[in-house]
Amino acid sequence: MRNVREVKFNVITDNRGKMIPVEYPKQLEFPLKRIYYIYDVGEGIRRGFHSHNDLEQVLIAVNGTVKILVKTPYEEEIVELNDPSKGLYIGPMVWREMFDFSENSVLLVLASHEYDESDYIRDYNIYEHKAKTYFRRRK
Ligand code: TYD
Repeated sequence: MRNVREVKFNVITDNRGKMIPVEYPKQLEFPLKRIYYIYDVGEGIRRGFHSHNDLEQVLIAVNGTVKILVKTPYEEEIVELNDPSKGLYIGPMVWREMFDFSENSVLLVLASHEYDESDYIRDYNIYEHKAKTYFRRRK
């Protein structure tokens, strides 16, 4: 769907284990400004419930499984992340919710900008209105 795609990372495997490098611009399409990780999420918890005006992110379940709902006024998808070599790119103006975090799951997020509360859209009605204009303009 628009502004959302799966990203595949190369795994470097040898007899000592596995390693995945993520470097801009080789494996990442934006220069990295911030990372954060979400873990210790209890059963039944759903997080996110927002979009961003400009921020680009790549989400990777480096351990365990996490489901991600990505949604625009025109499209909607649920992606299960369960493989450290797969990421989910989420660009601007996509509503996201994260849920079904498995026990011991760790969701790593790579972000294109520093934390900026003014880039968030947390009200779904405001999001929908803005996103309709955003995606119509880019058809
Ligand atoms: P929030 O964006 O609500 O988390 P989620 O998207 O998982 O629902 O962030 C939770 C709190 O953490 C909120 O008070 C803002 C703060 N925060 C930072 O200080 N820096 C960050 O990079 C992020 C993502 C959040």
